[in-house]
Amino acid sequence: MAASTRILILLAPLGASCTLEPAGLRETLDARGYFEALVKPQLVASCAACHATREPFLQPGREYESIIEYKGGLFLTRPPELSYLLHRGQHQGPPLTDEQAAEVLAWLRLQVRQDARPVAVTPTVSAAPGEYFLSLKQLVGDPLARITFRSEALPHSMGSLLLSDLKLVAGPEAGIQVKHPRFVISSAAGVVSDPADSLSNVELNLEPREARPLGPGGVILTNVPKIASLAVAFASIQRVQPQKMATCKALDLFGRTVRPTLAMPCATTCHGGPNSVATNAFNMRAATSTDAAEQMRFCLDALARTNPEYIEQSALLRQVTPPAQGGTPNHPYKLSDPGPFRQAVAAWVAAETK
Ligand code: HEC
Repeated sequence: MAASTRILILLAPLGASCTLEPAGLRETLDARGYFEALVKPQLVASCAACHATREPFLQPGREYESIIEYKGGLFLTRPPELSYLLHRGQHQGPPLTDEQAAEVLAWLRLQVRQDARPVAVTPTVSAAPGEYFLSLKQLVGDPLARITFRSEALPHSMGSLLLSDLKLVAGPEAGIQVKHPRFVISSAAGVVSDPADSLSNVELNLEPREARPLGPGGVILTNVPKIASLAVAFASIQRVQPQKMATCKALDLFGRTVRPTLAMPCATTCHGGPNSVATNAFNMRAATSTDAAEQMRFCLDALARTNPEYIEQSALLRQVTPPAQGGTPNHPYKLSDPGPFRQAVAAWVAAETK
């Protein structure tokens, strides 16, 4: 993902501008102190004319509480650089100045570090048409937990994407409880949360291995820049009903028949190297590992990208299958003859689910 200039500015060292304040003040403040001393005065001056009462994240007298609790903690993203507070930009109100944004980000970093439940964000995927898989492994610890959807351009409406077949899937290691998922669109123009926020009422509680549509099972995103990526942020996501750790039953078969292709060409070409788009989508560095625990996790990571009921629809296969043979258009690399890999995956998944 290309970092936006906005983010680069935000990441520049703080304190470049000259303000009169006691030396060391910043270092001694906790998140609330930082907000009260250095952020609130600026936000009140620039934003409270409207936001004291509408989209009320600066309620007079309880600015701190209202901003951290706003829409269930929407502004407290992890990482804080993605916070919508920083990226609303010019709207009916003014954008934050670069100096204001730097102070807000410095505060968010403190706040998110001390907050027990910062907003969780999935890895990002391309917004181009195709089938997608967002792993929830980092958020709930289960390598098979995921969100899947199909993305296509909405006909007759420039820059709009229809995301359909939108599903939340719990893995075998735990159930998942989620509240208020929201798509986040990042591009060279910055990072914005889906303004329609159409999943704001979603609250789901999935049993281990359960799959359910997210909201109505689809979302329309408007004004998506041509080159952009998508992620999902949650007001909360939790691991519930923990089960014992999942294992691959057919690890040996996987190691002999499927893993070699993932090691080469997949890992050697993209998924094992410095290409962060590829490793975010599926990190295959473990494909060449000799460590038994790593091999087991890797097998599960691969299994998460299969669909045992309709094996042809497995992301693991469709990504490397040419579109003319039923593969996805979005994946830049295709196997010229996916037949042998398809057979190997089908036989291995059958052994896993037997
Ligand atoms: C003149 C009125 C006005 C001012 C001043 C103003 N805003 Fe807004 N803001 C709005 C309105 C109206 C909306 C809701 C519609 C929208 O999202 O554009 C909004 C929405 C937002 C949202 C999105 C909230 C959500 O729940 O989606 C953010 C973030 C935001 N403003 C930040 C700011 C910041 C930061 C400032 C100060 C630098 C500011 N605004 C100043 C009118 C204002």
